Amino acid sequence: MTKPIKFELTTQLPDHIYQVLVPYFQGAVIDNSLVPGAVIEDFSGKKKELYSLLVQEQQRTVFLLGLGEERLLPEGFRTFRHFINTEKARIKSSLLIDLRHLPELAIYQCVLGLSLSDYSVGVYKTENDESHLLRQVQLLITEGAGDFDTVIHEAQQTAAVMKSVCALVDAPGNIKTPQYLGQWAINSGKQHGYAVEVLDQETLKEKNLQALLAVGRGSEHPPILIKAVYTHSDKDPSKIDLGLVGKGVTFDTGGLSLKKPTNMHYMKSDMGGGAAVLGAIELIARLQLPLNVAAIIPVAENSVDSLSIRPGDVIQSHAGKSIEVIDTDAEGRLILADALCYIQENYHPEVLVDLATLTGSCVATLGDKAAGLFTNDQTLADSITQAGDNTQERVWRLPLWESYQEALYSDIADVKNLSEKPVAGAITAAKFLEFFIDEKQKWAHLDIAGVAFGDTDHARMKSATGYGVRLLVDFARSLIST
Ligand code: BES
Ligand code: ZN
Ligand code: ZN
Repeated sequence: MTKPIKFELTTQLPDHIYQVLVPYFQGAVIDNSLVPGAVIEDFSGKKKELYSLLVQEQQRTVFLLGLGEERLLPEGFRTFRHFINTEKARIKSSLLIDLRHLPELAIYQCVLGLSLSDYSVGVYKTENDESHLLRQVQLLITEGAGDFDTVIHEAQQTAAVMKSVCALVDAPGNIKTPQYLGQWAINSGKQHGYAVEVLDQETLKEKNLQALLAVGRGSEHPPILIKAVYTHSDKDPSKIDLGLVGKGVTFDTGGLSLKKPTNMHYMKSDMGGGAAVLGAIELIARLQLPLNVAAIIPVAENSVDSLSIRPGDVIQSHAGKSIEVIDTDAEGRLILADALCYIQENYHPEVLVDLATLTGSCVATLGDKAAGLFTNDQTLADSITQAGDNTQERVWRLPLWESYQEALYSDIADVKNLSEKPVAGAITAAKFLEFFIDEKQKWAHLDIAGVAFGDTDHARMKSATGYGVRLLVDFARSLIST
């Protein structure tokens, strides 16, 4: 790991700075004082647009960077990260960024983007030339504009967490066994001051988490359940404001209902929901937000073996409801059923949110632009949608109408895990989860199959996006009573 970039605030433009970055919104008037005499043509401030000038007398390079429309600032970090990634060869160890003409959010986005830019997926390359020269950044702000130390701190903490979440999601399935994820959570809890407990296979049997056990049966790496609890000292520890559940399938072969080989390698990202939930609780702890959070991550590998569950098997669940397993590839909902039941029974959270890379159907519906949102509560729908807009980790609500329930009717058991009809798959998956939600529980399910893993500008193949961490933390802030 390279050392984090050092950020400093300044109100003066020093003489000895050789590289200056000036970000602009689309259509903004360019301030020529940094580049006296220069004629700047063909720069409109479009997103990721770059224009560089050499100021001869000071031997200074000035980069003008387009941020696009101002309303897109909540994802401005991508532009700053892209700038560093593409200009690596030209950028020296220190850089000054002129932010005087921009709103406070730009400072956050700038620090976040720059701090994320040393993330590399190439961790198993024998020779890693991804090293990153930028060490020191001066942020030029207007005198008296405010105290931005907290903003810088929050952006740096967020970047650190997003990078470790991405590293988890990008890690190959042979490395990130359920035990590896469990140990990751234990280390994170120790380091950032929240309680973590890992239930092993024996304990899962004692506690009757039969659906989680069933999915993990086919793997040489047994399933676990991660429990993480963060409580703030000002809050009554017996009241959990927010319950989080994340799907933690470390690799999804489909089980005996085996997936096609095309793109199966991407199924290492099937713990993206679990990783986002772990990242969110770690970030909430790092920022010491005044609320109590409990997170449960059921973790299993969905593998092929003589011990694997078969299509047509009937399994039990922690809720005491029997499930007919029509398709072993619809495994996420099985482990989530146990985790959702467990968190309601043990923590009684005021609101409950789960994140899961649950269905290809959601990818077909919303692509990589939004997660599917399903909820039984209008206020929750509004606040999660707002958090999605604030962070540009967007969500789009889909229905949970009663009429979808009959698709899950089983002749032999209480419910089946797959509808015969190959339609409305994201909705019927959410209906299956709802079957394990208490009537009074305020609950939201986010299907993040299309957004957790995809095209990024730091990898040629698909890679982790870190989706969910900023969304969940923004949403958590909305729960803080004022
Ligand atoms: N992990 C997959 C869903 C998925 C698909 C995640 C694409 C990311 C990208 C899930 O466990 C699964 O296999 N779902 C099946 C369900 C099917 C058997 C009804 C699907 O969506 O194809
Ligand atoms: Zn599956
Ligand atoms: Zn899966």
